[in-house]
Amino acid sequence: MQTHSLAERPDLLDAFWSIAGDWPTFMLQDPTSDRAYEAAVDGFPQLHLVVMDGDVAVARLHAVPFACGLDDLPPRGWDHALQRAEWLAAKGAPPDLSTISLIEARVAMSRRGEGLSGALLAEARRRFAALGCRDLFGPVRPTRKWFEPRTGADEYARRVREDGLPVDPWLRAHVRLGGRIVQVAPVSMTIPGTLAQWREWTGLPFDEDGLVEVEGGLAPVHVDVANDHAVYVEPNVWVHHDLRPAG
Ligand SMILES: CC(C)(COP(=O)(O)OP(=O)(O)OC[C@H]1O[C@@H](n2cnc3c(N)ncnc32)[C@H](O)[C@@H]1OP(=O)(O)O)[C@@H](O)C(=O)NCCC(=O)NCCS
Repeated sequence: MQTHSLAERPDLLDAFWSIAGDWPTFMLQDPTSDRAYEAAVDGFPQLHLVVMDGDVAVARLHAVPFACGLDDLPPRGWDHALQRAEWLAAKGAPPDLSTISLIEARVAMSRRGEGLSGALLAEARRRFAALGCRDLFGPVRPTRKWFEPRTGADEYARRVREDGLPVDPWLRAHVRLGGRIVQVAPVSMTIPGTLAQWREWTGLPFDEDGLVEVEGGLAPVHVDVANDHAVYVEPNVWVHHDLRPAG
């Protein structure tokens, strides 16, 4: 298997996009990612990696230049990082790559559970350090949080196993490679919709005020019947990878 950036291999763009996802429908309605997700791939091909097994793309990773540090990590984590990337890409100036934010890692459904994600993250750390990155952040989506949407994100993120590593497998993959959990990004992704849209996205009735749990949601959706809308606010977890050379 070989990993390439889209800057090295622009011919792999179609392969990069060919890895199907399995996000719940509502997760594809974030107004920010609607525009900025693709703009970031075009604008920063050196920060988008694809793992090829022969001719088949089996994993990919998205990242963008980022300007915040440990003291000012934005509560709007994912949305903030992508919005800024879109603006930077539109400006067209050479990006400062000393600080980078991860956006997504995705392993092809047929290849999950083989350890590819850790290898991809390790490769991203190595490559981004070679591009001059010293601080790699990520508004990490804890993959198992949706089994307990009513648990506070901070409590969930801090939960560790007997060996001291996070209980959540995706947070664990980051920490095992040297990442450090910093804080929660409480409003990392905001997805608003009318009640009719939410019914279409989830198949649920959305006919009562309050909190509604949806499959795949890390937190419940807030429903306001009188005003005909519901809003999902996703908490993510800021993780920091210090990529400065040791010593
Ligand atoms: C999250 C994702 C990238 C992990 O990739 P993967 O290659 O399947 O995972 P790995 O085989 O490298 O395993 C990573 C850890 O997760 C654990 N894991 C994998 N699948 C799991 C499952 N279904 N349930 C519980 N743990 C699981 C592994 O045991 C491993 O932990 P450990 O080695 O510390 O025990 C992949 O599942 C994916 O693409 N998911 C959809 C997109 C996504 O959620 N991306 C992350 C947020 S952007």
